[in-house]
Amino acid sequence: MSTKVIIGAQWGDEGKAKIIDILSEEAEVVIRSQGGNNAGHTVVVDGKVYKFHLIPSGILYPGTKCIVANGVVIDPEGMLKEIDGLIIEGISIENLRISERAHLVMPYHKALDGITEEARGNEDIGTTKKGIGPCYMDKAERSGIRVCDLMNEELFAKKVRENVIIKNKIIKYVYDKDIQFDAEEIIKDYRGYAKRLAPYITDTTVLAFEAIKADKKVLFEGAQGTLLDLDLGTYPYVTSSHPVTGGVCIGSGIGPTAIDECIGVMKGYITRVGKGPFPTELFGEVGDKIRDVGHEFGTTTGRPRRCGWFDAVIGEFAVRTSGLTSIALNKIDVLSDIGPIKICTAYNKNGVITKHFPASLEELAKCEPVYEEMPGWGPIDHMRTYEELPAEAKAFIKRVEDLCGAKVTMVGVGPNRNQNINVE
Ligand code: IMP
Repeated sequence: MSTKVIIGAQWGDEGKAKIIDILSEEAEVVIRSQGGNNAGHTVVVDGKVYKFHLIPSGILYPGTKCIVANGVVIDPEGMLKEIDGLIIEGISIENLRISERAHLVMPYHKALDGITEEARGNEDIGTTKKGIGPCYMDKAERSGIRVCDLMNEELFAKKVRENVIIKNKIIKYVYDKDIQFDAEEIIKDYRGYAKRLAPYITDTTVLAFEAIKADKKVLFEGAQGTLLDLDLGTYPYVTSSHPVTGGVCIGSGIGPTAIDECIGVMKGYITRVGKGPFPTELFGEVGDKIRDVGHEFGTTTGRPRRCGWFDAVIGEFAVRTSGLTSIALNKIDVLSDIGPIKICTAYNKNGVITKHFPASLEELAKCEPVYEEMPGWGPIDHMRTYEELPAEAKAFIKRVEDLCGAKVTMVGVGPNRNQNINVE
């Protein structure tokens, strides 16, 4: 059996796409189990840039089955745009499969995402406004509409009409907005989407089970990151799904015993988008340099990302809560020529030292990072083997391993696929 889970071990945007792309090449099945088109994966193949939001980037490899599983929330309009973009580039989507159990993002979800964010004022979460939170809200409230409903014209129309009555009332009476949705228009648009998506829709739990039983190479590609997890992240500044390893089981309909390896992707520094406390955040020149050199701007929103030093308290939290068997440490080339590098080994909270990431944001806001300074290194983006790396970079990698508690098996020294060093 060969199943690998790849998750983001920080606040998302850890460079998972590159690792996923490298591992997808040999994977026979790639499965996405949570989130929606709030995610953005950029993959560069032969100089061509591909941006993925919902469809696994494994679709670029002929013969790789790509599954959008039950835990994902699907905006059919967004998905069709992505499909059309791939078809224009000559990429076959014959191997795409969509779960009939996945929930649908509806137009009122997207509107409500924006309206609720606006109503939060200064306390806004900084969502991607893709309707993700409101869609998962309906799922939990049991009024959501699923892909299998889309395949049943009558049932779908009934559910849309029921939902639109309630959502229009919420928009008008709770939020005092004039936006009102027309159920019949939505039904008509979604009928068009249904026709186009129908060939790909199936029970993906069966596909996943059979692939695992047949000993196929299965890759579960994560979206977002550990600290954006609804249960384990920096609540309420989180997404509404479960980006940790545990989310893969429910989101793909497989059991935990089916997972062999859990790879956590980290960067040699930390970034986050959206709001909330961030202990190692850098505000001056070093932060700006990391942002520029690391191209730290959102794929989905274009927003500049907040940047900070590597935080091993977060690293340990990710290793612990996802049972990580190894770490892929990305973008350490971005730290080249920056001078001495800092690494946060613990937090000092009003004189008390802790190595455990706190639950409460009020507590997190009080945490001062305890830093260890390490000598920096020069350019490394041309290096391709671990042996070539300068001793300073090797010492940094070793320190990350020791502090986080898992072995670093891959090191990223640049954005291209070949700028990846395997550590034996
Ligand atoms: P939502 O997922 O759009 O509801 O946004 C909730 C929070 O998760 C916000 O802080 C977003 O910026 C963040 N978020 C969602 N998706 C991603 C991602 O793919 N990378 C990084 N942050 C994300």
